[in-house]
Amino acid sequence: MNRSDFPILQSSADEPGFVYLDSAATTQKPNAVIDAVSNYYRTSNANVHRAAHKLSALATQAFEAARENVRAFINAGAVEEIVFTRGTTEAINLIAAVHRGALSVGDEILISHLEHHSNIVPWQMLAAATGARLTACNVLTSGELDLNDFHSKLSNRTRIVAIGHVSNALGTVNPIADIVSAGHAAGALVVVDGAQAVAHMPVDVSAMDCDFYAFSGHKLYGPTGIGVLYGRRELLEALPPWQGGGEMIEHVSIETSTYNRLPFKFEAGTPNIAGAIGLSAAIDYLHEQDWQILQAAEQELLSMCIAELQQMPEVQLIGTPKHRAGVVSFLVDGSHPHDIGTLLDQQGVSVRTGHHCTMPLMQHLNIPGTVRASFAMYNDADDVAKFAAAMRKTLTFV
Ligand SMILES: Cc1ncc(COP(=O)(O)O)c(C=O)c1O
Repeated sequence: MNRSDFPILQSSADEPGFVYLDSAATTQKPNAVIDAVSNYYRTSNANVHRAAHKLSALATQAFEAARENVRAFINAGAVEEIVFTRGTTEAINLIAAVHRGALSVGDEILISHLEHHSNIVPWQMLAAATGARLTACNVLTSGELDLNDFHSKLSNRTRIVAIGHVSNALGTVNPIADIVSAGHAAGALVVVDGAQAVAHMPVDVSAMDCDFYAFSGHKLYGPTGIGVLYGRRELLEALPPWQGGGEMIEHVSIETSTYNRLPFKFEAGTPNIAGAIGLSAAIDYLHEQDWQILQAAEQELLSMCIAELQQMPEVQLIGTPKHRAGVVSFLVDGSHPHDIGTLLDQQGVSVRTGHHCTMPLMQHLNIPGTVRASFAMYNDADDVAKFAAAMRKTLTFV
């Protein structure tokens, strides 16, 4: 990895010391991804799976090669288990929607207070449509799941457990394999929101043994508008389709339709072909990295960042999880997070402020929101030093 692989991070005369600490919102893209998308449109653009002509064959080949690349990346058993979606949000909505016929009054869906709205609202909608009850596991002030509470809320009424792998607000890495096996022991399906995990650790859905795993390309150095739903093959086979339209059918008459095989049954309409190809290039780029080196470097930056903030008496760290990936959240006594974010931005440091699409977590912790610094492979010690200097200056203003 070379920082110069990411053109947007190159200093310009306008912004000599630009520090990007908002990768949990979206990562910056390496040239390899930008070029793959651009090359696709320059050389192979056509619709997939449809036409008899060469360009369509080229596009289809690249699109399906991307699917195989995703399969290998998360170690799924078969390409049929990889459904392309718009992102994590769409993947979770898909799973929630296709379970409308499977749940009823008396059933429960178990989530947690740590979840992103994308892993809350679709389940509220499923609960409202079916009469099932939505319950949520508590979070400790450390930012970790209260596992005693999780186990007490898990029962033979629980049909679906939906938990994030890594918290976007606090960086907590959840003990996901334990959660999956507890969910299965109770007879529930387990859906994992992997949006914040895939860029920070190797993910192996077979070893994890989850039923569904969702993630977004844009948090993984890939394009926006493309994401992945992994689903266990026999479950996807048995579930009804979600959206209807082209691609997802086998035969259509005015009265009725039969549906295509997996994974196309869940991919109605023209997919984001360029997005899938860009995501595949992002995965290739990640394959060139060494996870151990990336993870060690990230942990060092997180420790440096936390150590700097701990020297500032006005700063209160939010969440102290033992296992943390990518994120440091904090508050400044007497200041609104937005004001801190604006003052940092004026010094060339991009952070995210607010509720981070985790309003129930903020209510649970009784805080208005946080300032969040989030890290990716292109960040370095110099970024942390610039962030700390900007924070010190900010504290003299507030
Ligand atoms: C934990 C988590 N889940 C889900 C999402 C939704 O991802 P997307 O907006 O790419 O669908 C995000 C995005 O911030 C996230 O951090």
